[in-house]
Amino acid sequence: MTRTRPALPIILAVLTLAAGAAGAQDAPAATDNIAAARNENGRYYTADDVPTFNIAKDGTIDWMTYSGFRRYHSECHVCHGPEGEGSSYAPALKKSAIEMDYYDFVDVVTNGRKKVNAAENSVMPAFGENVNVMCYLDDIYTYLKARGADALPRGRPAKKEAKSDAIKDAEKACLGHE
Ligand code: HEC
Repeated sequence: MTRTRPALPIILAVLTLAAGAAGAQDAPAATDNIAAARNENGRYYTADDVPTFNIAKDGTIDWMTYSGFRRYHSECHVCHGPEGEGSSYAPALKKSAIEMDYYDFVDVVTNGRKKVNAAENSVMPAFGENVNVMCYLDDIYTYLKARGADALPRGRPAKKEAKSDAIKDAEKACLGHE
């Protein structure tokens, strides 16, 4: 009997290690809002089906993220500052895209949000009727997420994936050109 005693703490230690390792593997999968888990005709999604960016080792970025760079700078940067960096008037969206739930992000852009009182006059307009925003909202979101994750440097992205036929078709349908 006495010979088995020293083994118990070792077994416990091994079990604890095994549990720790399993936990470590599970945790990022449950909370990872960034890593691309699948590519659907040039659109990338996380394991939870939330749009995300994809940047290859040679720096080639996915089309949506590239498109988001352009759309952000035509529709959002006047208030939110260049490259999602924020301004004295509106928050840094590169942070919002990481910290906010995707569906909340979409909701604020669609319906707008206001903080108007004696101390503040902060108005995010509703873009729900603006096809130049709504048809490119996932593009803008993935671009901002890439900026917030420090995966994409400032400036015009150099190398990009081709625009897939599926993305072209969806864009035409969304803009009402079909
Ligand atoms: C006219 C100025 C203006 C424009 C243009 C604008 N925003 Fe905003 N936005 C704001 C302000 C101000 C706020 C803060 C609102 C508040 O205090 O509730 C805001 C808030 C947001 C938020 C919530 C951020 C957070 O962390 O809570 C999101 C998301 C957002 N804007 C996305 C966009 C996107 C995407 C575009 C471009 C399509 C855009 N905004 C264009 C002024 C603007």
